[in-house]
Amino acid sequence: MDLFEHEARDLFERHGVPVPRGKVATTPESARAVAAELGGSVVVKAQVKTGGRGKAGGVKVVHSPDDAEQAAEDILGMDITGHLVHQVLVTEASAIAEEYYLSFLLDRAARTFLAMASAEGGMDIETVAATKPGALARIPVDPLTGVDTALANRIVKAAGLPTAAADAVCALWTVFTEEDATLVEVNPLVLTTDGTVVAVDGKVTLDANAAFRQPSHAGFVDSPDENPLERRAREAGLNYVKLDGDIGVIGNGAGLVMSTLDVVAAAAAEAGARGPANFLDIGGGASAEIMAAGLGVILDDEQVRSVFVNVFGGITACDAVAAGIVRALALLGDRAAKPLVVRLDGNNVAEGRRILVEAAHPLVTLVDTMDDAASAVAKLAAAEPEA
Ligand SMILES: Nc1ncnc2c1ncn2[C@@H]1O[C@H](COP(=O)(O)OP(=O)(O)OP(=O)(O)O)[C@@H](O)[C@H]1O
Ligand SMILES: [Mg+2]
Repeated sequence: MDLFEHEARDLFERHGVPVPRGKVATTPESARAVAAELGGSVVVKAQVKTGGRGKAGGVKVVHSPDDAEQAAEDILGMDITGHLVHQVLVTEASAIAEEYYLSFLLDRAARTFLAMASAEGGMDIETVAATKPGALARIPVDPLTGVDTALANRIVKAAGLPTAAADAVCALWTVFTEEDATLVEVNPLVLTTDGTVVAVDGKVTLDANAAFRQPSHAGFVDSPDENPLERRAREAGLNYVKLDGDIGVIGNGAGLVMSTLDVVAAAAAEAGARGPANFLDIGGGASAEIMAAGLGVILDDEQVRSVFVNVFGGITACDAVAAGIVRALALLGDRAAKPLVVRLDGNNVAEGRRILVEAAHPLVTLVDTMDDAASAVAKLAAAEPEA
C-alpha cells in the first residue's frame, strides 16, 4: 500500500529522518492558519498518491498566509491524473542549495534490498536512470546486515552526495526496516544553503503482508476514494476488486477467479449481459461466514443482477463449501434476492452437489461445468430487469 506524502513525512520524523515542519489542511482557511503558525515562506502541496504533482501545478511555494490560502484554494479539488486533491500539506520552505535522490527498495530480481542514490535529484529519476545511468548509484544491501555507518558512507560517496547526508541514509534505512516497507523514496533530499540535509518529499510503500505486526498502520487507507464495497470487503478480509459489469463472481483461489472472469466476460458478450461485476477470491479454506460475507458484499452491489459461485474443492472439500453456501444464504435471509449459479467440482463433489440439491434454495441453480455455468449466469443477468 502506498502512503500519502504527509504520512511518509510522519514516519520519517518518527525515525529521525530530518523533515520540514508542516501540517495537513483540508480547507484554504486552515492552510492559511498553518502557514501563519509556521511563519515565513511555505510550500503548499497536493496530497495525492501519484507522481508529477509539481508539473501539474500541485506544488506551490508562497511567501505569506494570504498566498498560502490562495494556493490551497487553487490546489484543493484539482484533478491530478485522475486523483482528486482532498488535502494539502503545508510545510516550511527550505532554502535549497542542491537536490538529491535517495531510496531503498526490494529488488525482487536480485533477491535483495537495494539502495539507490543520485546527486541529480528533484526531477524524474527514471529520466536520470535512462539518460545518465552513471549518475544513479545502485548499491545492494544485505538484509541480514542492513545499513551501518560504513555502508551509509559508501552509498553517499558512490552517488556524490555530501557526507552530511549519511545520517539521513541510516535513518531512512530504519524507516524501511522498522515499518516493513518495500519502498522508501526521497526525491528530493535537499541540501540547504546553511548546510543541513532535509527530506522535502517522501514516498513509502508498505508491505501489506506485514500488516499483522504493524498495528499502527491500521489507520492508513489505500485511498479516500476507495469504493464503499471494496472498503467493506477489505474490512472483512476479502480479496475483492469492484469491476463494471452486472455478474457477481465468487471463487476460491486467485487463478480460478481470474479465469472465471474471462469465461464470464465471453459468455456475457454472447448473452447481451455486461460482464463481471467484481473479482472475489474467498481463498482456500473458506468458512460459511466468509462465504456469507462475500455473498453479502456482492448482493449489495446494485449493478449485480446474477451471481456465479465457482468453487473447486481442494483442502476444503465441496461438501463443506456447499454447506457454507447453504448457511450463507440462511444468514443473508431476504438480502439474498438475486439468482445464483453454482458450479462445484473437485474433492467430494458428489456430496457437495447432493447438499445443494437437498437444500433446494429457489434462487440457486447448480450447473456442472464452468462454461455452462458462465453461460447460464450471463443469460440470467441479461434477463433481469435493469436496476
Ligand atoms: N519544503 C520545500 N522547500 C522548498 N522547496 C520545496 C519543498 N518541497 C518541494 N519543493 C520544491 O518543489 C519541487 C517538487 O516538490 P516534490 O518533489 O514534493 O513534488 P513532485 O516531485 O513534483 O511530486 P511527485 O513526487 O509527486 O512527482 C522540489 O523538487 C523542490 O524543488
Ligand atoms: Mg518529488
